[in-house]
Amino acid sequence: MTTLHIDSSINGDTSASRAISRSIVDRFRGDRIIYRDLVAEPLPHLTLEAFADGSVLDEFLAADTVVIGAPMYNFTLPSQLKAWLDRILVAGKNFRYTESGPEGLAGGKRVIVALARGGMYDAGTPAAALEHLESYLRGIFNFIGIEPEFVAADGLNFGPDQREASISAALGETMRLAA
Ligand SMILES: Cc1cc2nc3c(=O)[nH]c(=O)nc-3n(C[C@H](O)[C@H](O)[C@H](O)COP(=O)(O)O)c2cc1C
Repeated sequence: MTTLHIDSSINGDTSASRAISRSIVDRFRGDRIIYRDLVAEPLPHLTLEAFADGSVLDEFLAADTVVIGAPMYNFTLPSQLKAWLDRILVAGKNFRYTESGPEGLAGGKRVIVALARGGMYDAGTPAAALEHLESYLRGIFNFIGIEPEFVAADGLNFGPDQREASISAALGETMRLAA
């Protein structure tokens, strides 16, 4: 079993999404773990030439489980993570267009996302309209045939007590995922 572990926070050792993604990977440890730190080694913006190099896509396709650390920056995902997704979504590889619409081809893979957000974006609240991280990632992975799972630490900018409580609840949640 191969696990692909992706991180995209700029906050190094103090990052909540990195701590949660690491905890998930520790619980799902397979035979083989491939780690890609998109901040230490950023992928350039997409170019036509980048399509010719399918190495990032091949790494994704070969993984049984994919664990992604995804912090919210400016109400959405870091551009480093977007650059990775730009190499993952390739027509004919993990989705295709049919006469009845698009069809995902990447089913069977488990994708778990560790979300870290400064605010709260619960459904029904005014802030929910600004949530373009979880909603975007769910849409993207649904499009290629995967139902992603999320572990979220929210309200991280609401003070140290809330931050600690949210991260510790999220780390506890990783145990439920592995059960
Ligand atoms: C550049 C930047 C932009 C941010 N924008 C938002 C935002 O739009 N909404 C939000 O809820 N939190 C925002 N935050 C707070 C982060 O989501 C929060 O600090 C979270 O812990 C980041 O995850 P990390 O600790 O893994 O880096 C922002 C933080 C930074 C550094």
